[in-house]
Amino acid sequence: MSNYQVTLDPAFIDVEATHAFLTTTYWAQGIPLPVVRRAIAGSVCAAVRCENQQVAFARAVTDRATFAYLADVYVLEEHRGRGLSRAMISALLAHPDLQGLRRLMLATRDAHGLYAKFGFKPLANPARMMELHNADVYAPAGPNGA
Ligand SMILES: CC(C)(COP(=O)(O)OP(=O)(O)OC[C@H]1O[C@@H](n2cnc3c(N)ncnc32)[C@H](O)[C@@H]1OP(=O)(O)O)[C@@H](O)C(=O)NCCC(=O)NCCS
Repeated sequence: MSNYQVTLDPAFIDVEATHAFLTTTYWAQGIPLPVVRRAIAGSVCAAVRCENQQVAFARAVTDRATFAYLADVYVLEEHRGRGLSRAMISALLAHPDLQGLRRLMLATRDAHGLYAKFGFKPLANPARMMELHNADVYAPAGPNGA
C-alpha cells in the first residue's frame, strides 16, 4: 500500500478515468461520460491514487441518513490482489455521511466474497424486494434509432 493513497476528497475523483473503466464493464458498458459525471456528483465517492493516477474507484448512492447503494467498485487489473478494494471500501463505509444507515445494498455477479468481509449477506427476504432494471439503457440506438 506504500505508493497508494485512498481518498474520499471529491476534488481527487477523476471522472474521465472512472468513465474509461466503467464503459468496459459488464454492468455499465457504453455508459456516457455525462452520466458518469452526474452519478459521481450525486454520490459519496472513494478512490485510490498511485503516482497521480486513479487506479480504483467506488461510490455510494445515498440519502446520507437512512440508505446507501454501493456501486461501480473497481480496481484496475494491474493493481488487483493487493488489498486495494478492501482498503477503499473500508474508507468509504467509514465516511461520516454513511453512519447509522438502516440498510446498505449492492449488486454483484461474482464478488460476493469481497463484500461478505464487510458484513453484506444475501437478501434475507428476497420476496420483499423489487426492481425496475433497464438493462439496455446505455445500448446504442439501432439502425432505425430504436
Ligand atoms: C472485485 C475487485 C474490485 C477486487 O479488487 P482487489 O483490489 O483485487 O481486491 P482485494 O485485493 O482488496 O481483495 C480483498 C479481499 O476480497 C477478496 N476478493 C477479491 N475479489 C473477490 C471476488 N471477486 N470474489 C470473492 N472474493 C474476492 C480477496 O481474496 C481478498 O480477501 P482477503 O482480504 O481475505 O485476502 C477487482 O477484482 C475488480 O475491479 N474487478 C473487476 C470489476 C468488478 O467486478 N467489480 C465488482 C463489481 S460488484
